[in-house]
Amino acid sequence: MSEQEKYIMAIDQGTTSSRAVIYNHKAEPIASSQKEFEQIFPKSGWVEHNANEIWNSVQAVIAGAFIEGGVRPDQIAGIGITNQRETTVVWDKETGKPIYNAIVWQSRQSAPISQSLIEQGLKDDIQQRTGLVVDAYFSATKIRWILDHVEGAQERAEKGELLFGTIDTWILWKLTNGEVHVTDYSNASRTMLMNISTLEWDDEMLRLLNIPKVMLPEIRSNSEVYGHTVGFHFYGHEVPISGMVGDQQGALFGQLATEQGTVKSTYGTGAFIVMNAGNELKISKNNLLTTVGYVIGDEVTYALEGSVFVAGSAIQWIRDGLELIGNAAESEALANQSQNEDEVYLVPAFTGLGAPYWDSDARGAAFGITRGTTKADFVKATLQSIAYQVRDITDTMKKDTGIDVPLLKVDGGAAMNGYLMQFQSDITGIEIARAANLETTALGAAFLAGLAVGYWKDIDELKSFNKPAQTFEPKMNDSKKKRLYGGWVNAVRATRAYSQ
Ligand code: G3P
Repeated sequence: MSEQEKYIMAIDQGTTSSRAVIYNHKAEPIASSQKEFEQIFPKSGWVEHNANEIWNSVQAVIAGAFIEGGVRPDQIAGIGITNQRETTVVWDKETGKPIYNAIVWQSRQSAPISQSLIEQGLKDDIQQRTGLVVDAYFSATKIRWILDHVEGAQERAEKGELLFGTIDTWILWKLTNGEVHVTDYSNASRTMLMNISTLEWDDEMLRLLNIPKVMLPEIRSNSEVYGHTVGFHFYGHEVPISGMVGDQQGALFGQLATEQGTVKSTYGTGAFIVMNAGNELKISKNNLLTTVGYVIGDEVTYALEGSVFVAGSAIQWIRDGLELIGNAAESEALANQSQNEDEVYLVPAFTGLGAPYWDSDARGAAFGITRGTTKADFVKATLQSIAYQVRDITDTMKKDTGIDVPLLKVDGGAAMNGYLMQFQSDITGIEIARAANLETTALGAAFLAGLAVGYWKDIDELKSFNKPAQTFEPKMNDSKKKRLYGGWVNAVRATRAYSQ
């Protein structure tokens, strides 16, 4: 490594772990560091994080990546931040102390607030304004919940003493020592407070939820210098933070899905299927989310998204909760061993169901279990549940846009699982292209940060780094596909009926 060599660092702050990755000019990851943090489950369906622990984990992985790569902080040309979206932090502007735990995107504690918006007949109006289906998933009702449950919070927020941020904003604020309070369009579009047409905070949404505007960050593009690291946070070096993007939009960009109609699916804690919807705004008619993909300069690229709340976390559950497997990789071998005719179904509605059902009350269920059901069958059903949920979305995307999804670009940890990928291709009938580097989320943030500081010239240069993907072709015959998916549809119906 030459003394002068420069790099881009991506900070990927996800739902269960934080990661820092250092990329070289060829967009190759030369070092990375990862740290898990605590998941707090105060009540059924609630999920929280300690925002300070998140920040500590980010600092630890920054240091870890430097050590692993033998890279010095002054060799970093720009930092990109990508993050679990919607997760909500409210903190004291002076002390920097969060006034409550971060309420995680999966958490259902603000469901009564979103329910009340629906009961007031505001569903369509809110969808037109924000592009989103009213749900506790988004930040708006989580902010309301915090302001309602922390004594004196509403008054302090009105006086300008409290700040709100999604995790991008929280990390940026920390890295700049409280100097910069900014979010980006992709994250702002997930708060249910940004107007999807004007791309500004929507005054009517703020009024409806009684959220003081003064606590909100400024919204900026996905690729520009927002500020510089200050003080000891980057070992005394002033490094530009030049890219910010919500993790799913980050993966879209990392996959270089820059052409309208291209679809990616990321298998992380949840699974997020996102289509590049081009430069024209079109609100979904089928319960998908219309959201911002990314904004570079003045050009806005919209996206159509189907969000599945539980994917990789179902594998985590059979590993840590049920202890059926010792590690995630074992699930592939076990699924391949299963001899049954695929009639066991798991509906992992642990925190309700996301798109296209949007059912906050649903909770998980299993069907078709017999005395002969084995561990392998149950593990297989868990992997299949992920693929069935993705098929729910690809079907809905087709209905919404009238276009077939010809190819699914996949990434994320669980995309490593060969059984899951083959079944995904079989059950959707769609060819799968698995990215050579599964960490496309971090790569997308690095691309956006690198473009802003001239480390890379343009998207064409980024395309030259594309490595061939591994593909999976659909092999299942139509009648089996129909029988299996029909069973899934029944299982979801029964689960929802039970939870009512
Ligand atoms: O919308 C939630 C999403 O951004 C979380 O992503 O990768 O942490 O599951 P992930």
